[in-house]
Formats: sequence, C-alpha cells, structure tokens
Amino acid sequence: MILTNKELLFAEKHSDITHNDKYIQLKDVPRHGSTNTFDHSVRVAHMASHLAKYIFIDQDSAIKVGLLHDFCLVDYHKDDKEVHNGRWYCFYHPEDAVTNSLDEGFILTHVEKKAIWSHMFPLSTCIPTSRLGYLLTFCDKVVAIQESFANVPEGLIKLKINLNEKGFRFSFRKN
Ligand SMILES: [Fe+2]
Ligand SMILES: [Fe+2]
Repeated sequence: MILTNKELLFAEKHSDITHNDKYIQLKDVPRHGSTNTFDHSVRVAHMASHLAKYIFIDQDSAIKVGLLHDFCLVDYHKDDKEVHNGRWYCFYHPEDAVTNSLDEGFILTHVEKKAIWSHMFPLSTCIPTSRLGYLLTFCDKVVAIQESFANVPEGLIKLKINLNEKGFRFSFRKN
C-alpha cells in the first residue's frame, strides 16, 4: 500500500518531523502487512488533520501526535523480548514513541503525550482523557483496518495459486 499524492505532499509539508534522520528509519519498520510505520503514521496524521477542525481540536497538535504516535523502531514481527523485558509491543511502543520524540527534540505538551500513550486503547489499559486522545485512537484504528484489508486481494490470489498447485480447482469468478 503506497501513499497517495496528497499524503506525500502532506508528509513534505511537515518535513520538520518527516525528514528527521531517526524518524525516516520508520520506513524500514513494517506495519499491518501492507505498509511501513512511516507511511502508516503519515496516513493517521493526514486523517487527524482533516477531522480535527470538525471537533474543535488544534490541527497542529493533531498532526504532531498523528506523525509521532508510533515513533518506535522495534519491528513487532521480530523477537524483542530482550529489549523490553518481555512486555508486549502494544504496551511499550507508545511509551517509546514519546521518549524517542523528546530525544529528537520534538516538543510535546502533557495532553499530546497522554494522547500518544493512550492511542492503543482499548487494547491497553491507558485510557484517552482528551478529545485529541480519542481522535488519535480513532484515526489509528481506521487506518490500521484499511492497511490490514489492503492485503486481502493479494492473499486470496496466493491462496488460489497454492490450492491450484495442490490440485484443487479454485476460482473467484461467478458462473
Ligand atoms: Fe501504535
Ligand atoms: Fe498506529
């Protein structure tokens, strides 16, 4: 799944974050089977920036938490138990995102930090306490679902090829 032209322009417009050397490494961190964490974050921020104005949330703040919410360089497909003492990725990556953001000099208010910490709700016990937090977790879920389903057609084609190789007759066409 690749970024649209609008999303690419949006990413360029926010080069203070998207051109950061460490942040760019998110392009090498896969996400939801069809994309990487850099592109995923751009999609979340792009959606949040549009919705923010309808619910009276500061647009810059929505963009910032959207871009930074998954700023964690761990690939959750790989074993990371030694790095995070066996904790689950869904619990520690929001904390890493805030820490990495501050280490790179991005300024976050307490409300913005809390929005990032709680963006995995309800999969984590950290509950959003602001409209910004709920906006972030909503946009993250919607984008994650889109990215996850982007794999379905390719997966069905692979399934068909595998089944055909094993001698099953399998077709998606209706008779
Ligand atoms: Fe996340
Ligand atoms: Fe995310």
